[in-house]
Amino acid sequence: MADMRKCGIIGTGNVGAASAYTLAVSGLFSEVLLLDADMHRAEGEAADIAHGAALRRPCRVHAGGYADFADCGLVILAAGTNQRPGETREALLGRNRAILQSILEQLTAVNRDAVLLVVSNPVDVLTGYTLELSGFPAERVIGSGTVLDTARIKCLLGEKLGVDSRNVHAFMLGEHGDSEVAVWSSANISGADLDDFCLAAGIDDPESMLASLAREVTHAAYDIIERKGATCYGIAMAVRRIAEAIIRDEHAVLPVSTLARGAYGIEGVCLGLPAVVGRSGVSQVLDLPLSRDETERLLASAHKLKTLMEG
Ligand code: 2OP
Repeated sequence: MADMRKCGIIGTGNVGAASAYTLAVSGLFSEVLLLDADMHRAEGEAADIAHGAALRRPCRVHAGGYADFADCGLVILAAGTNQRPGETREALLGRNRAILQSILEQLTAVNRDAVLLVVSNPVDVLTGYTLELSGFPAERVIGSGTVLDTARIKCLLGEKLGVDSRNVHAFMLGEHGDSEVAVWSSANISGADLDDFCLAAGIDDPESMLASLAREVTHAAYDIIERKGATCYGIAMAVRRIAEAIIRDEHAVLPVSTLARGAYGIEGVCLGLPAVVGRSGVSQVLDLPLSRDETERLLASAHKLKTLMEG
């Protein structure tokens, strides 16, 4: 039986380790279990986090084998290689799909009840493979999607407009990658019209400023990877936000990667869509009113992912 107070993380590289840390100190779980192809490293990451976690609310952090994953309520799939400077996420597909296949064969042999959260890139295509290979119901197979991209646009726009990013309501949807779509048509600042807010903030050409911020978000990972070799904290905090919505059964609207089943005219591919996330995973996808241009770009993003999936 799945224990929602127990989270398992497979892959303890930069992203998996940062996720383990933020989940261990989140108060969401009583146990965080780590597994990696290099168990020596997984054991080191577990010990390092466990020692610090001893100063906080109890959370048992340890390494273990697949048998220990049998009762995890949430399993985070963070194994695989990450982008080298200048490399696209889709360039990782062949390597990471093979790794994922091996993991899923062993994981699903012991656990068929968990919510699976895919983080490895290219996350949307790998979420689709996880859905296919695991045979789990679609609502329980989620990718981190454009949750991090949406956090990035909220961060940048909040800084630009001088408001708390939590009051910036704007989505990045579609591929967690180069074809993602900034949805400005429904964006607002606590209900205030975004264009009006920009003009009041002294920005005389809101459209080009917003377009520039959207480009900065799409390029953010490449820029960070070029500077420090990898990203980890942003995606780990996105993982924590998704885990929070699941464990607390929040029914929060988050742009996780989920199987499109007709929303926006898209079928049969996983991509970042405004989804209601709770204890059982994704319960529904919201049909946001998009502009014609946003709809066309979202369809193009879905087409790119479908082509990668079938490749
Ligand atoms: C990120 O966007 C690399 O997908 C990772 O930070």
